[in-house]
Amino acid sequence: MSYTGKADPFWNSVASFDLDEIFVLPEWISKLTGERSSPDRNINSQSIDSELEALKTRVGDCSGCRLSAERNTIVFGDGNPAAGIVIIGEGPGANEDKLGKPFVGRAGKLLDRILKAIDLDRTSVYITNIVKCRPPGNRTPSKDEVAACLWILEEQIRIMNPSVILTLGAPASRTIIGSADGIGKLRGSIHRYGEIPVIPTYHPAALLRTDALKRPVWEDMKKLNQLLRKLELPRTEQDQR
Ligand code: URA
Repeated sequence: MSYTGKADPFWNSVASFDLDEIFVLPEWISKLTGERSSPDRNINSQSIDSELEALKTRVGDCSGCRLSAERNTIVFGDGNPAAGIVIIGEGPGANEDKLGKPFVGRAGKLLDRILKAIDLDRTSVYITNIVKCRPPGNRTPSKDEVAACLWILEEQIRIMNPSVILTLGAPASRTIIGSADGIGKLRGSIHRYGEIPVIPTYHPAALLRTDALKRPVWEDMKKLNQLLRKLELPRTEQDQR
C-alpha cells in the first residue's frame, strides 16, 4: 500500500518527521483484528446497510429537539458503513443542510485532503455528526440538543461496530470520550468508546482559521495511520476489492 504522506502542498509548512510507533497493547490489536475478520462476527455490509436504513426510518422526520424547527434536511451520515472507520463531527452547516451530506463545505474539502494524506477517502470511512440537524447560524449545539440526538449516534456506532473512531473538535470528542476536557488536552492520546479506540483531533474548521493546528492534526493522523496499519484495514476502494 502506498503511503502518500504530505504530497499535498497543504502540509508543506509542517516540518517533516518520522512516523512514530504508538503505544498500543498487542493483545488489544489482535482482539480488534480478530473480531473484524472472525466468521462469527461477520462484517456483512448488506446487513449493516439494512440496519442503518431501519434506523433512518425510526428517526423519520425527527422533532426531538428545537433544531428540527429550522433544518431543511436531517444529515444522517455518509460513506462506507462497513469500512471500520467512523469519523464524527459537530453538526451540519448550511451546505450540509441543503445537500443532506456531512462535510461538503470548506471544512469538508479540507477533511478530504487530511484523509488523503493517509490514503483514506470517503469510500474507506463513514462520516457523521453528534447532531443531525443544523444548529442555526452554525452555533455549537447545546448540551440538551446533543443529548436529544445522541441515541441516533449510539445506534449508528452499535450497528457499524467500527475498529476506530476519529472525533473532530471539542464537542464531538467530549461527547464520545465522556470528558469535559478541552480538545487541546484530549488530543494526543488514544481514548476508548467501550472497546473501540477513539482518536480525537482538531476540527477542520479550526484548522482553516489557525494554521498552527496543522502540526498537531498531522501528528494525530500519523497515530490513526499507525493504528490502521496494525488493524490492517483497507483504505481506498481499490484496497477493498
Ligand atoms: N462541520 C461539521 O462538524 N459537520 C459537518 O457535517 C460539516 C461541518
